Amino acid sequence: MSAGRYSPVRIALHWLSAAFILWALIMGAYAGTLAEDAPLRTGVAALNVSLATLFIPLFAWRLWLRLRAERQAPKTLAEHAAHWAHNLLYLLTGAVLVTGVLMMNRPIRVFDWLTLPQPLHDPALLHRLMQVHAGSCAVLGALVLLHVLAVIKHEASGRRVLRRML
Ligand code: HEM
Ligand code: HEM
Repeated sequence: MSAGRYSPVRIALHWLSAAFILWALIMGAYAGTLAEDAPLRTGVAALNVSLATLFIPLFAWRLWLRLRAERQAPKTLAEHAAHWAHNLLYLLTGAVLVTGVLMMNRPIRVFDWLTLPQPLHDPALLHRLMQVHAGSCAVLGALVLLHVLAVIKHEASGRRVLRRML
């Protein structure tokens, strides 16, 4: 995983995912500070639920490509660290997606063209899942920050990692 560039499909999926995840983390956290019936909050929630649901198959595709492409085992300590940091990013994204779907207290509406049934109904469980969703989002946000700082640090010290993802 350390040498060479990522395939064009993986690069496209990385930047598409990065754009969506950054948007959903920032706007989701911001909207969460507004009153529950504020139009901006309900609007962001509806948009993010639609986008996040559409994102699930892209994430599954991306995960599959990563599992399939993992040929060269990491060797140095830095490579191991990067490998596990990336695995954690996948794990946290997966946790955020799963808890997001399971915690829904209404049918899952994907814009105006698809409505999926609400999966669970026990209010206490939904409340717990919502807490896990918010908690996983916080951890994912911290990891993404570390990820971006690591890229900047590598670039500043002459290791051209960004080129592999462009
Ligand atoms: C990578 C994907 C996702 C990210 C980054 C994300 C991010 C967030 C964030 C940051 C919040 C605010 C949490 C807080 O109040 O502290 C939130 C809330 C929420 N998320 Fe997600 N989420 C994702 C996926 C999903 C999915 C798949 C669904 C459902 C299909 C979903 C449904 C919701 C709902 C309903 C809320 C509460 C909105 C509100 O109370 O106004 N999310 N999400
Ligand atoms: C604007 C911010 C971002 C920049 C500049 C960036 C840059 C990069 C670079 C340069 C790599 C290749 C590292 C290497 O293998 O040496 C990479 C990989 C990766 N990035 Fe980002 N990234 C950003 C945002 C994100 C976000 C928001 C996520 C969300 C979870 C993310 C998840 C990943 C993952 C999982 C990998 C491992 C490669 C893969 O499996 O596709 N990145 N990123």
